[in-house]
Amino acid sequence: MTQPLAPQEAAVLAMIRNNPFVGQQEIATALGLARSTVAAHIAQLMTKGHILGRGYMLASEARAVCIGGAVLDRKYHARGKIVLETSNPVDSTRSLGGVARNVAENLARLGSSTGFISIIGDDDGGHALLKYMRDIGIDVSQAVITGERPTAEYAAILDAAGDLVLGIADMSIFDLFQPEHIDRAWPHLAAASWVFADCNLSADALSALISRRKSASCRLAIDAVSTHKVIRLPQDLNGIDLIFMNIDEAAALLGRSWMPTPEGSAEAALALQQAGAAMAVVSAGARGMAVAGIDKATFIPAVKAQPVDMTGAGDAMIAATLHRLLEGDDIFAAARIGTLAATLTTECETSVHPDLSADFIDEHRHRFEI
Ligand SMILES: Nc1ncnc2c1ncn2[C@@H]1O[C@H](COP(=O)(O)OP(=O)(O)OP(=O)(O)O)[C@@H](O)[C@H]1O
Ligand SMILES: [Mg+2]
Repeated sequence: MTQPLAPQEAAVLAMIRNNPFVGQQEIATALGLARSTVAAHIAQLMTKGHILGRGYMLASEARAVCIGGAVLDRKYHARGKIVLETSNPVDSTRSLGGVARNVAENLARLGSSTGFISIIGDDDGGHALLKYMRDIGIDVSQAVITGERPTAEYAAILDAAGDLVLGIADMSIFDLFQPEHIDRAWPHLAAASWVFADCNLSADALSALISRRKSASCRLAIDAVSTHKVIRLPQDLNGIDLIFMNIDEAAALLGRSWMPTPEGSAEAALALQQAGAAMAVVSAGARGMAVAGIDKATFIPAVKAQPVDMTGAGDAMIAATLHRLLEGDDIFAAARIGTLAATLTTECETSVHPDLSADFIDEHRHRFEI
């Protein structure tokens, strides 16, 4: 899958690797090339993801960059019966959400080198979100800050029993994230081992990512987010290395329907491969998920949970799967760890488990039944 390097490009890269401060003229003289030829090779090496930027910062080995939603989540839990058209006393909680943001936080907690790209408003919530990410070691240098729209926000009003009465979402800021933002961040994306994108991105931004991936050495994973947002993906999924969605999202994208069974999810995963994705994971809630790899498909049952809050389970599954792929596992071994991370996340109130780490996962391996 890695873009092959031409012999001269490889020679230029070897010299830069040996001495990151080497000058273009020095390379040109050593290799018997024109300086302009060396400059062109360096531009190519940036496009292909081997060089991160000026100053010749070299791409680190195993890195994931998550690109997509960053959301301020608010929950308002009514203390008594809700009365419309007047003020109701509530207990409120605030947290950070967005699929790409959750995946990035999980990846960092698992110990992966992680970057995060999104668009946030020039407001207190947005700046606090970026600070939170930075403080846990995530590279947010490519995040876009705009004064045009506020940071995305989701608010849920729950009745006294905890059931959703009304959800409101302002995600309009994501419309401002355009293909040119992808172009600008491209050296960082191309330099990653895995780029993970969610369908909070616009159709234009998603298709720019998919088409750029075709001439780069990074691999691209995508999550559907919702049945409403998955249709932003093109029908031709070529260029996507790994796609994550649940059965309903697969049905919405492909205009077909499957039973929420192991067989149904396996069929949906194969259908996503037929549409062009190299690998597909189709989840079926508490049952588990089908994993279609390059040359075989299998169903991975969920690890039994004692759930308290389902929020973020799918995001933890994706992050742990990508983390293990970065560590060298195949998709089947990686996704198995993904199901364990998902189960652990259902057992805490927050959308990212506060104790998550690679050791925490290891301590719970005994929970696999097979
Ligand atoms: N009740 C549960 N018990 C154990 N594991 C679960 C449960 N619900 C979900 N999971 C795990 O999480 C994975 C993804 O969950 P699910 O199919 O609900 O994704 P989703 O519908 O995309 O949800 P999300 O909104 O979290 O993205 C499942 O394949 C499973 O491994
Ligand atoms: Mg999901």
